[in-house]
Amino acid sequence: MSEEVFLIQGGNSLSGELKVEASKNAYLPILASTILCDGNIEFLNVPDFSDIENMCEILKVLNVKIKRENNFLSVNTDSVVNAKISHELTAKLRASIFLLGALLGRFRQAVISYPGGCKIGTRPIDIHLKAFRSLGVKIVEKHGYIYCNAGNMKAGKVVFPSVSVGATESLMMCAALLEGETILYNVAKEPEIKELERFLNQMGAKIRGSGTDTIRITGVKKLTGGEFSVFPDRIIAGTYLILGSLCGKNLHISNFKKEDNEFLLNILKETACDFKLKNDNIIVTAQKRNPSYKFVETLPFPSFPTDLQPQFMVMETLAKGTSVIKENLFENRFNQTMELTKMGADILVKDRLAIISGVEKLFGADVYASDLRAGAGLVIAGLMAEGYTTLHNIHFIDRGYERLEEKLKGVGADIKRVQIE
Ligand code: UD1
Repeated sequence: MSEEVFLIQGGNSLSGELKVEASKNAYLPILASTILCDGNIEFLNVPDFSDIENMCEILKVLNVKIKRENNFLSVNTDSVVNAKISHELTAKLRASIFLLGALLGRFRQAVISYPGGCKIGTRPIDIHLKAFRSLGVKIVEKHGYIYCNAGNMKAGKVVFPSVSVGATESLMMCAALLEGETILYNVAKEPEIKELERFLNQMGAKIRGSGTDTIRITGVKKLTGGEFSVFPDRIIAGTYLILGSLCGKNLHISNFKKEDNEFLLNILKETACDFKLKNDNIIVTAQKRNPSYKFVETLPFPSFPTDLQPQFMVMETLAKGTSVIKENLFENRFNQTMELTKMGADILVKDRLAIISGVEKLFGADVYASDLRAGAGLVIAGLMAEGYTTLHNIHFIDRGYERLEEKLKGVGADIKRVQIE
């Protein structure tokens, strides 16, 4: 069977401009929440990520009309139907869970299979379901499907037992059209939640508080259509920034939102990376060899994001000294370690900790991406390694990076996508 791989030859310095695309993790819940709106919605800066394509495929099954031309995407939900969402569809992406909140908001009923997505841990959805139940939704889990009846759903208070980005977003959607005031306590504060609030409010919702611990939603009768553009992707920005800190030579990252990458910028300041910020641009030049950053742990925003952990691990692999990463969010998120070891990295993993002893060089090897961000980390490793790297499973990378090889080639990287047997 043939497959696409990246062939990478490491060692080049990167200079020129890399423009950050719109945020995948903001677009996914926003696209799901179009189910709550009436009329036409026009999105102006939709990136070509396969996760977005998959979300559109699911929406089409619900009879949502979608037209796409390059970065323009129009959505019309006038004839949306409440169809059962099968395992074949939900298996494609974790974000399919957002459809549950949106369908309950619009139809007060939904049947959906358990969501799929990157294999970075068990990724339960108990927090979502518990929150729906606390508003009166009847939920039966049977034969791999979740049957929800929200006929008696009432606005009220929801206290999340722990912080979840997805559960916060699901409840925002579900309550937007629910009569009365719903108050969500202990919510996630990720910028993508603010973006969902901005979208829903622009379409007529009454939501406030995103970015704080408490979100208040006053239900409205109807949401309308309109035009919308989503903010830049902070994980792509962070990936480029890490790359720039390793092999940038005046690498210019544009459409960069500083406030969403503050934590990483502070780390780079401490490791003496040379960068200059101006408006929404950052220019990065690598130093000879970064000193290691002693300890970082992944935590909800505004702390260090789990979605940058694999890329950061590559940075520390090449740093001078020892560094420890603690992964608090997902239990299988050190999948890239084995592959980095093949390339010459010195990493010891013990439960949630990775102890990284920096090496002077990595060497090209045949390696496999296990998920989206691990794949991005391995691209960085390949670009830094001596010799050739063949990176397999690049379909994971296409979930959240747009033709990454072309972008990187444009700034001087030696990387190509090839079909092999
Ligand atoms: C979102 C992001 C993902 C990012 C993650 C953490 C999207 C589409 N995905 O995922 O890229 O890595 O936030 O910033 O925006 N949990 C439960 N029960 C639940 C829900 C979550 O135990 O019902 C746990 C998870 O296993 C994890 C933690 O809570 O340990 C946080 O997960 P959550 O914030 O919900 O992540 P996602 O929304 O899945």
